[in-house]
Amino acid sequence: MTSMNRRNFVATLGIAGTALLAGCNGSEEATQTTDDAQTTDDSAEEASYTLVKEGVLTNVAELGFSPFEYIDEDGNTVGFDVDLSNAIAEKMGLTCEWLPNQAFDTLVPTIKQGGKADISIAGVTITDERLEDVDFSDPYLNSNQALIVAASSDYATEDLDAEDIQIACQTGTTGDAWIQENLPNATRVPLADVTAGMMGVSTGSYQAMVIDLPVAQNMLAQSFSDLTILEEIPTGEQYGIAVSYDNPGLKDAINAALAEIESDGTMDELKQKWFGTTDI
Ligand code: ARG
Repeated sequence: MTSMNRRNFVATLGIAGTALLAGCNGSEEATQTTDDAQTTDDSAEEASYTLVKEGVLTNVAELGFSPFEYIDEDGNTVGFDVDLSNAIAEKMGLTCEWLPNQAFDTLVPTIKQGGKADISIAGVTITDERLEDVDFSDPYLNSNQALIVAASSDYATEDLDAEDIQIACQTGTTGDAWIQENLPNATRVPLADVTAGMMGVSTGSYQAMVIDLPVAQNMLAQSFSDLTILEEIPTGEQYGIAVSYDNPGLKDAINAALAEIESDGTMDELKQKWFGTTDI
């Protein structure tokens, strides 16, 4: 990926912003001076940001991305990102609400447009292209892509770069872009729904699918034992929380909350809960 420099630059700005930020409403500011982060309470200044709904951090996401965000048997929206968004909101003295499901490729435009949601936490990879439209928090998780095929097939990755091969992806994702760049001769099948893509590979309508590795691992283990990961693709992606460029104070406040979540052990707890390891 060519976005490394820009990403580092943005991350550096985020940290600089955090250092200048005053704690708001009794929440604490994390100042990362050593490995043991120290927290200081500076209530002299208020962090200033706007919210679409008072007291609430409103999130917009696509909700078919287990274990990051999905709807459980009881109809509740759950997942790593849901817990993380609640933890962030709590540190900010807010509650968090998730809007109803929206197609993944509408999330960045929704944040850019404003008025409906404050943030999009939805396993969104920080990319140069998206940074043209929205800002991102500091990265909160590393990810890669996975190339999925039927366990019964005997494809090698090279075999898939052919017109009669149909490869599913979720529309507008980094997996979608990866197919276009790396398997340009294949017939790409962009879909709104990740599960529909896996079903299609399972039934033989499609020969492969490209999706984020942690999601592939989770969904194959949960529901698609007839599928296998042919290749782990080391894209070196990082997930960030999309925020509007019009709301820089919100990004700073989120980064301060994220730093606390990292340093007080909450992040490791959430990783352990949703991935069974802190090594992700
Ligand atoms: N990380 C990938 C991307 O940003 C896929 C994210 C899909 N997220 C979702 N909630 N469906 O393009």
